[in-house]
Amino acid sequence: MKRIISLFFFSILFYSCDTLLKVFQEEDLLERPPAKRCADCHKNIYEQWTNSRHSLSWMSESYKKATENYRKTKCFSCHIPYEIKIEEKPKWREKHKEDGINCVSCHFREKTKSMHGPYHVFSPPHPSTEDKNYKTSKICSGCHQETYKQWIASKSNKQCQECHMPAKKGSLIQKFPFEYLHFPKDIHNHAFPTGIAKDNDFILNVEKNTKSIKVHIKNTGIPHNLPTADNGKPKLYLTVIFYKDNKEVYKDFEMFFPKKALPFNKDYVVEFLSPAHFNGIKIILERKLSWKKKREKILEKKF
Ligand code: HEC
Ligand code: HEC
Ligand code: HEC
Ligand code: HEC
Ligand code: HEC
Repeated sequence: MKRIISLFFFSILFYSCDTLLKVFQEEDLLERPPAKRCADCHKNIYEQWTNSRHSLSWMSESYKKATENYRKTKCFSCHIPYEIKIEEKPKWREKHKEDGINCVSCHFREKTKSMHGPYHVFSPPHPSTEDKNYKTSKICSGCHQETYKQWIASKSNKQCQECHMPAKKGSLIQKFPFEYLHFPKDIHNHAFPTGIAKDNDFILNVEKNTKSIKVHIKNTGIPHNLPTADNGKPKLYLTVIFYKDNKEVYKDFEMFFPKKALPFNKDYVVEFLSPAHFNGIKIILERKLSWKKKREKILEKKF
């Protein structure tokens, strides 16, 4: 109780005194430090970010190879951005390249010399600016340009963050005294999980003809193409297995990639030749992310 009362008075003093505030300002935060520096206070968010693909966008082996050992500078902008923009690719930076897409590239703005974010906060160590764009897909649009266009076309009202930055209540800060002076808020997962589609994200039907079958598949759950990419090479595999008395008699598959993908809410039809005799069909949908070696199963259904 004593501690709470003293913290209460301390916070009133702290928040009302301008000169005291200046004492808490840490100037180097405004000079685009590496992500590790932000971890001095935002420890939990930093740890999530180290588990994101964004933190690997420069160090990733496949990126290194695709850019011919960092020779292609035209590939730098979205992978080591200086300051992100809306619907326009960013400029690239020289410093702390190994960080990839780091905290300041998404949060610090030259124009206001402050950290832009979703909240109206009081943050003595650095100035902050409330910026509603952080709550919408627009903030992702400068780099995920193709996916953003598909999302606009889907007319979805679900923002990218709802699925790729799911929120959980907590403190933005893990440092004394700030962690006690601020109310818990929604922390949006900075690991930017890709997630995986579920059975009920699709409507799947089979139409049997004399010599072939037609598989109708419709992506009704994910408001962008499946797979979707700007530069990566993710894939989706639709496998059909024909059975005769529970024995596999014939198998075929169709592959999807960013240029030939399942759009949102449109029926897609694939025709497969069928064997002369069969009395069962199994359909399997799998995906392979750009940065993973293995396929993962999305759904399996018998007809
Ligand atoms: C500065 C450009 C940039 C911005 C802004 C950006 N991203 Fe990314 N994102 C990338 C790059 C580059 C990668 C790939 C990194 C890698 O795997 O090497 C990526 C990867 C991802 C992945 C993982 C994809 C996979 O293959 O598994 C997700 C999910 C993602 N971003 C979501 C988002 C969301 C949501 C936003 C907006 C809140 C966002 N990104 C903003 C550039 C950006
Ligand atoms: C010495 C502690 C400290 C350090 C270091 C620090 N911050 Fe903060 N930051 C704060 C405090 C305090 C808040 C307000 C927290 C609250 O209201 O819950 C805050 C809030 C924020 C917000 C939310 C702004 C908004 O309007 O929604 C962002 C974004 C942010 N910091 C980014 C950064 C980045 C990027 C770095 C590294 C360059 C950094 N911070 C380093 C203390 C710090
Ligand atoms: C790819 C861009 C991107 C990167 C990189 C990034 N952030 Fe964020 N950050 C966001 C977005 C977008 C939001 C707002 C999410 C929302 O409100 O839906 C956010 C929100 C925040 C907030 C407010 C609390 C919350 O989770 O909503 C803080 C604090 C913050 N970020 C700090 C950091 C720090 C520290 C790092 C580096 C370790 C970092 N961010 C890296 C995009 C980014
Ligand atoms: C309704 C939830 C939802 C929304 C909204 C959403 N996504 Fe996704 N996204 C997913 C799921 C689920 C996957 C994984 C699909 C799979 O492979 O099974 C995914 C995959 C991805 C991938 C990895 C490539 C791939 O095809 O697997 C990227 C990149 C991506 N999303 C970016 C975005 C961006 C950018 C936005 C906003 C413009 C966005 N997403 C909006 C759910 C969503
Ligand atoms: C307009 C922004 C942008 C530019 C420019 C860009 N990328 Fe990317 N890159 C992305 C995004 C966003 C992703 C995340 C996955 C996806 O959507 O493809 C990505 C993912 C990747 C991946 C897959 C992830 C990984 O680590 O394996 C590779 C490889 C890649 N980019 C290589 C390149 C190369 C090579 C160039 C130059 C020819 C380039 N990128 C230029 C935005 C960009």
